[in-house]
Amino acid sequence: MRTETAKPVRLEDYRPPDWLVETVDLDVALHPTATRVRATLSLEPNPNGRNGAPLVLDGEELSLVSLSLDNVPLTPERYSATPSSLTIAGPPRRPFRLTIETLVNPSANTQLMGLYRSGASYCTQCEAEGFRRITYFLDRPDVMAVYSTRIEAEKSDAPVLLANGNPVSSGDIAGTDRHFAVWHDPFPKPCYLFALVGGKLACVEDSFRTMSGRAVALKIFVEPGKEGRCAYAMDSLKRAMRWDEARYGREYDLDVFMIVAVSDFNMGAMENKGLNIFNDKYVLASPQTATDADFAHIEAVIAHEYFHNWTGNRITCRDWFQLCLKEGLTVFRDQEFSAEQRSRAVERIGDVRVLRAHQFVEDAGPLAHPVRPSLYHEINNFYTATVYEKGAEIVRMLKVLLGDDGFRKGMDLYFSRHDGHAATVEDFIACFADATATDLSQFLRWYAQPGTPELKVTASFDARARSLRLDVAQTLPPRPGHPVGEPMVIPLVLGLIGKDGRDLPLVTADGRRIERGMVVVSRPAETLVFMDIPEPPVLSLNRGFSAPIKVFAETSAEELQFLAAHDSDAFNRWEALQVLATSLLVEGVAELRSGGRLRVDQALIDALEATLSDPGLEPAFAAQALSMPAEADIARDIGEDVDPDAIFRARSELRRSIGENLGPLLEDRYARVSDRGPYRPDAASAGRRALKNACLDLLAMSGSSAAIGMAEQQYESADNMTDRMGALAALALHDVPARARCLEDFYRTYESDPLVVDKWFALQASIPEPGTLPRVQALTIHPAFSFANPNRVRALIGSFAHSNQTQFNRADGAGYEFVAATVVDLDPRNPQVAARLLSAFKSWRALEPARRGKAEAALRRVAGLETLSRDVKDIVTRMTDGGVRTTDKG
Ligand code: BES
Ligand code: ZN
Repeated sequence: MRTETAKPVRLEDYRPPDWLVETVDLDVALHPTATRVRATLSLEPNPNGRNGAPLVLDGEELSLVSLSLDNVPLTPERYSATPSSLTIAGPPRRPFRLTIETLVNPSANTQLMGLYRSGASYCTQCEAEGFRRITYFLDRPDVMAVYSTRIEAEKSDAPVLLANGNPVSSGDIAGTDRHFAVWHDPFPKPCYLFALVGGKLACVEDSFRTMSGRAVALKIFVEPGKEGRCAYAMDSLKRAMRWDEARYGREYDLDVFMIVAVSDFNMGAMENKGLNIFNDKYVLASPQTATDADFAHIEAVIAHEYFHNWTGNRITCRDWFQLCLKEGLTVFRDQEFSAEQRSRAVERIGDVRVLRAHQFVEDAGPLAHPVRPSLYHEINNFYTATVYEKGAEIVRMLKVLLGDDGFRKGMDLYFSRHDGHAATVEDFIACFADATATDLSQFLRWYAQPGTPELKVTASFDARARSLRLDVAQTLPPRPGHPVGEPMVIPLVLGLIGKDGRDLPLVTADGRRIERGMVVVSRPAETLVFMDIPEPPVLSLNRGFSAPIKVFAETSAEELQFLAAHDSDAFNRWEALQVLATSLLVEGVAELRSGGRLRVDQALIDALEATLSDPGLEPAFAAQALSMPAEADIARDIGEDVDPDAIFRARSELRRSIGENLGPLLEDRYARVSDRGPYRPDAASAGRRALKNACLDLLAMSGSSAAIGMAEQQYESADNMTDRMGALAALALHDVPARARCLEDFYRTYESDPLVVDKWFALQASIPEPGTLPRVQALTIHPAFSFANPNRVRALIGSFAHSNQTQFNRADGAGYEFVAATVVDLDPRNPQVAARLLSAFKSWRALEPARRGKAEAALRRVAGLETLSRDVKDIVTRMTDGGVRTTDKG
C-alpha cells in the first residue's frame, strides 16, 4: 500500500521529454504468476529536451531481472532500480538500445492496472499509467513509439494471443507445449494505448470495406459460449466505422480491428490501438439478458472507443491535463453518432439529463474542477463528468458557434495538422480559429473556469415600437480557488414564439436577420433588441441546450405549458415540462418540511396530458416527458440545507398524483404501445417499450392491487429483459409479496449470468426503504457477490451510494458509515474503484446540518487513516478541505 507525501503534478511545469523512444520491441512470456517481459527500447536524446539529462524511467511494483545497453549487460553502478523507477545516470548522448527484463505477477494484480488476469485470460489496462506496471518506461503520452510485440504461452493456457496492430507471424515453439504470436503496429503511439491479451477465447468474425476499398477483418473475442451475444456489438461497430467515414472522412488504418470482452474491468472500455478491451457488459447482449438501455450503451461505447482511433490515437494528448482533448471530443462524436442512429431530440434529452445529474452536481460541490485542470494528485480521479460531459458540451458549442461547415473545416484541419502528434487544447482550438478566421481566445475560458454559468434573461415588449428587448446578464458562481469568474462566450440559440405557435423571424434593430436563431453572449450584461414583433411572444431560450448553463427567465406556468405544446424545438418542449415540475418539487419540498403538502399544479398535468395525446410525438419522447427530474437534480436546484427524504417524498407524491390524474390515458397508452411479435432492439421499438414502462411506473405509484397486479403480470409475461426489469423496478417501490416473489424468481432464472445478477443487486440496493442497508450488507456475503469484481461492487455498493438518495443519506448516518467502511476495505485491493465509490459523497456540503455532520464525520475518519491509496487520499482531501487541491493555489 502506498501512501506518498502528496506532490501534485502541475500543468505549468510541463517540459518536453529529455529522451525519445523510436521503437519498442516487447517479448512477453505469459505465466500466471511469473510473466517475463523483455522490452527493447531504441532511445535517443530529444533535441528539444535538456542536454545531458539522466534517463529516468517510470515503474510501479516492478522487479528488474536484467538490463543491457546495446546488448552489453549494464553493471550495477551504472544504474539504480527500485520498484517505481529505473535511472541510468550517464546514458550515451546518441541513439542506443536498452533491453530491460522484468518479472510481473498477473495473478496478484488486483488493481486491474497493467497486466492482470480476468477469469482464465490475461489482459492489460494501461491508461492512464498502467504500462509502468509491465515494464520500465517513459510513461507519458507525448512519448510515441512504434511497437512490435511477441507473446508466447503454453498452448493450453492461452491458445489465443493478441496485441496491437497487424499480425506478423505465429506458430508453435518446437519441442515444447508453447506457441507464440508476433504483432506489429506501424502507427507511433503512447504506451497507454498498448495492449495484449492471451486466453481461451472464442471469436466472432466479420469484415468491413473502407471507403478507399481496403478490407478490414473485424473480430470480437469473448468467453466460449458467449458468441451468440455479440451481434449487436458487431453491427454497431460497422455502423460506427461507416459513420466516421461519412461525417469526418476518417478511415480505419489497420488490417484488423479487434474487441476483447473481459469480465473484470475497472472502466467501461479502452481504445487500445487495433485491440479495444471492453468490460463485457458493453459487448454482450441478447433480448433475454439486456435491456434497451444496455443495447443503447453498447452502441455508444463501441462507437466511442472506435472513434478514439482518430481522436485519441492518431492524435493523442500531450499530457494528461489535455484529457478532454480526446475524451470530451470523442464523447461529442459518440453522442452525435447515437443522435443520428436514433432520435436526435431524445438523445439530446438523455445527454442533458446525464450532464445535469452528474456534471452540474460535480461542478456545484467540493470536487468541482475546470474541464482542463491545472493540477492533479492522481490522474485516475480526473476521468470525470466534467472532463467528459462538459468537455463534449464545449465541442458542441464550437459547432453551434461556427456552424456545420465551419466546424467540419476546423476538424479537417485538426486531423491534417496534428496527425501522428500529441496535441493540446490550444492546438485544437487554433484549428477552428484558423479554419474559420474566428477569434476564439475568450472561448478558451470554458476549459479553465469551473462552475456552471448562470444566465438571467429579462424581456420587455414595446407595443408601439413593435420591438422586444432582452436584457441578458451572465454570472459564474464562485468555486473553490476560483472566486471570480470572467465572462464566457455563450452561444444562445433562441426563438420567439407567436400566439399561433409559430417562430417569429429574428430581426435585429439594424435589420439583420439572425441565422439559426443564435446570438452570442460574451459580456457580463448585454441587451438584444428584436424588431417587427407584433405582440408579446413566448421566449424559448437555449434551444437544444446550446450551452451548458442555467437559464433564469420569468416564464409563467401558462407559458411553460404553451412551450411544452408548441415549441418547434423538441428539446425545449421537454425542458418546459421539467421546469414546471422542478418548481413544483422545490416548493413542495419546502411545504413538506414545514408540515404542509405538495401542491400539484394543473398546468403540469394538462401539459403532460397534451404531450401524451399528441400523435405527432414519438413514444420515446413521451417517455422522457413523463420522467420527472432526478432526486439529485432537485437537490442541486435547492442548493443548500438539503433533506433527501423530503425530496423523495415530494417526487413520489408528484408521480403518484400524475398516475392518478392521468390514469385512463396512461392505461390506454400502455396498451397501445405494447408490441406484439419478437423483440427488436431498434430505437422505435425501444421507444415504445420506454413509454409503456413509463406508464406502468406512474400507474404503479398508487400501489393499488390492480396496479401491482399489472406489474406482476408484465413481469411474468415479458419476453425480454426491458419489460421484465421495467416491471420489477415498478414493484421494487412497494413492500408487497409480489416484490419478494419476483425478486426470488429473477435470481433463480438468471443466477448463472453475472451481468443479469448485477441488475438484481442494483435493483435491491436502490429500494428507498430503511431495510435496504441491512439487505445490502447481507448481499455482500451472497455467493454471487465478490469484492474482486468491479461490476459486482458497482452494482451493489455503487447503486446504493450513488442511486439511493434516501438510504445512502439515512438520517442516522449508517449509510455513510457503511460506504466509507467499504471504501476503506476495498482500497488496498482496487484503489480506482474505491475512489469512485467515495465520490458518492460529493454533495455532502449541501445537506441539512444533521446529515452534513454525519457525512463529514465519516469522511474525516477516512481522511485520518494512515495507509490510504493516492486515489482515495486525493478524493477525501479535496472533499474535506474545500477543494483547494484542484486549484493553482493548492
Ligand atoms: N479511455 C477511456 C477508458 C479509460 C478511462 C481508461 C479511465 C483509463 C481511465 C475510454 O475511452 C472511455 O472513455 N471509456 C468510458 C466509456 C465511454 C463511452 C465514455 C468508460 O470506460 O466509462
Ligand atoms: Zn474515451
